[in-house]
Amino acid sequence: MTTLRGLVADDLFKFNSIVFEDFVEGYDIRFYLSKMTKNPALCQVAVAPDGRLIGVLVGTHDVNKNEKIQNENGSDLHPTYGHISMLAVASDYRRLGLGTCLMGHFTEIVERYSAWYVDLFVRQSNVSAIQLYKSLGFVEYRFLPMYYIDENGFELRMPLSRDVERMSLKGFSTNVYYFVYQVLLNLIKQCLEYLKGRLSWYD
Ligand SMILES: CC(C)(COP(=O)(O)OP(=O)(O)OC[C@H]1O[C@@H](n2cnc3c(N)ncnc32)[C@H](O)[C@@H]1OP(=O)(O)O)[C@@H](O)C(=O)NCCC(=O)NCCS
Repeated sequence: MTTLRGLVADDLFKFNSIVFEDFVEGYDIRFYLSKMTKNPALCQVAVAPDGRLIGVLVGTHDVNKNEKIQNENGSDLHPTYGHISMLAVASDYRRLGLGTCLMGHFTEIVERYSAWYVDLFVRQSNVSAIQLYKSLGFVEYRFLPMYYIDENGFELRMPLSRDVERMSLKGFSTNVYYFVYQVLLNLIKQCLEYLKGRLSWYD
């Protein structure tokens, strides 16, 4: 039977076969360790009966200091939310419901924390992941031109049960600034990549 359990440091040396697949955003070891330390319950792996790691989800629970939502009493607050940094399933275990299961487990926990929504970023061309997220209730919250070094992306959000009025899908004013920020950030990234290429050419 496939089981879910918390991600532990030792797993970081065993999940290469999953994280080096197409569309998986890999990170350095410090990133995983910081997420695991922050919210151990929100970083999960799926383990096959033979002990092989076949799925991983890395997430956090945080406060969005850039946005405000009107709470149940009518006052403004910075919403808490669940953020998914990484989801990947081994290619030979796909379309068996494992991605749905990892997402469901994550959502259940952030619901218990009374978070307002779950969000994540996805490449525009990642049709299968977008299909999965939409089947779970995520919607396109904003389009992010050149969010990735080589491609546009989307921020997808799914309001949770606390967010009865789906307020987490509003908040356009801050998005405009974020949009401009993203475009500038990506221009800088591309300039740096270009300069790096030029410098290595002189080596
Ligand atoms: C995206 C991913 C995590 C899905 O995992 P999974 O375990 O195969 O997903 P599930 O079996 O739970 O699929 C649930 C639903 O998602 C959709 N879906 C999943 N894979 C799909 C595909 N290749 N094509 C179309 N729809 C797909 C379907 O609606 C599916 O329901 P169905 O099988 O009843 O039709 C997996 O394909 C993966 O690891 N991809 C590479 C990494 C990646 O893209 N991560 C997300 C980055 S944001």
